[in-house]
Amino acid sequence: MYENVVKEAFEAMKCSYAPYSGYHVGACVLCRDGRMFRGVNVENASYGATNCAERSALFAAVSWGVRREQIEALAIVSDGRRIGMPCGICRQVFSELLDEKTPVILSNGEQTITLTAGELLPYRFSAEDLQ
Ligand code: THU
Repeated sequence: MYENVVKEAFEAMKCSYAPYSGYHVGACVLCRDGRMFRGVNVENASYGATNCAERSALFAAVSWGVRREQIEALAIVSDGRRIGMPCGICRQVFSELLDEKTPVILSNGEQTITLTAGELLPYRFSAEDLQ
C-alpha cells in the first residue's frame, strides 16, 4: 500500500540539498484526490536554517491550499543505514497539519514501517491548549 507516494519520495530525494551532512531525505504528501507534493531537506551553512524534507513537503501542500482533511498519507525516505525517524520539530508540525490517524510511511529502501502521526507525537501541545 502507498507504493506510489513512497516512490515519489525516493524521486524527490534525488533533489535533496545536503552538502553538509550528506544525509539525503525525500518526502511526499499524498492527497485524497491523488495530488502529490514533494519535499527535500534543504541545508544551510548556518545549520539552524536547514529545513527537513517532510516539513518542505507539508509546507508545499499547504501553500497550494491543501488542509489536513485532504491529506491521505505522508511518505518520508532517506538513504541512511537505518530508517530515518522524523525529528521533534517535524513531529510537532505533523500534529498541526495532519490528522492523528494519518499514516506516515518511513523507508530507507531496505525497510519500511508505517506509524500514525498520533503515534509519533503522543501528549502533543496543540491549539486545544490555547483555548
Ligand atoms: N532531516 C530531515 O530532512 N528530516 C528529519 O526528520 C530528520 C533530519 C535532515 C535535516 C538535515 O538536512 C539532515 O537530515 C541531517 O540532520
